[in-house]
Amino acid sequence: MLAIEVSGLSKTFGSRKALDDVHLALEAGEMVALIGASGSGKSTLLRHLSGFVRGDADGGEVHVMGELVQRNGAIAADVRRVRAQIGFVFQQFNLVDRLTLLTNVLTGLLHRVPTHRSLLKLFTREERALGLKALAEVGIDDYAFQRASTLSGGQQQRAAIARALVQGAKVVLADEPIASLDPESSRKVMDMLARVNRDHGCAVLVSLHQVDIALQYCKRVVAMRDGRVVFDGPATELSPAFLQSLYGGEAFADAVTPASVLPLQPSAAIRAAA
Ligand SMILES: Nc1ncnc2c1ncn2[C@@H]1O[C@H](COP(=O)(O)OP(=O)(O)OP(=O)(O)O)[C@@H](O)[C@H]1O
Ligand SMILES: [Mg+2]
Repeated sequence: MLAIEVSGLSKTFGSRKALDDVHLALEAGEMVALIGASGSGKSTLLRHLSGFVRGDADGGEVHVMGELVQRNGAIAADVRRVRAQIGFVFQQFNLVDRLTLLTNVLTGLLHRVPTHRSLLKLFTREERALGLKALAEVGIDDYAFQRASTLSGGQQQRAAIARALVQGAKVVLADEPIASLDPESSRKVMDMLARVNRDHGCAVLVSLHQVDIALQYCKRVVAMRDGRVVFDGPATELSPAFLQSLYGGEAFADAVTPASVLPLQPSAAIRAAA
């Protein structure tokens, strides 16, 4: 069974095609980078996979873990069941500021606990232990009882990953999860995504602006331009010329974090481009 299956997905905003006949398939357990210049459609694609947008695509189909998310612009009636299998790590607004870190992470269980209990935010001892274990796994259990608003950006991103673990997500969608983080926090967040992928068998689709990080963490890369998938294949097959054309001239230099910023081994493609 495919973890993610997108066929013929299109979405226009006014006259602009944000998604143009997108086809994409991820096997369970794959970790795939989504790259492309600003405005190429990465966030729109991730949103349409999530089932959180109104069913407003122009056409096409999305399945996650074999279950229908949307078809021809209509969200599946039972999308909640699919959504329970999807963890989200977005650039910001990941957590509820006034709740503690632990409670935020335990919201990953809300699809499982009875409504009367979830409203009171009462979690059982076992559930709390599960939350603390997940926080420990991403290295932030010391902060469990702090309000989310008091955490750094990187800690908040790791909390979102812990929430996906508690939830038992099979697919993690991450939209520029390291966009506003310093290099060390970026590395930790990417390491955690890689671990969720490797140790928990989650399929991970992560949009990234930094091409070198995409190449370092993901064997497979999907590149978008003007709403279309223009490359889908092994990271090793991305040529400097292609990347240059994807980002265009100077913007390419911005997209590639200098190797000195992160303790990275930039791929041959990036070294050749330098
Ligand atoms: N709600 C919206 N209303 C109108 N246009 C939109 C909306 N959301 C996205 N778009 C347009 O759709 C296109 C794709 O946007 P999207 O946010 O998916 O790009 P992106 O690849 O995520 O860019 P970035 O790297 O800057 O995050 C852009 O041209 C954008 O202006
Ligand atoms: Mg975006």
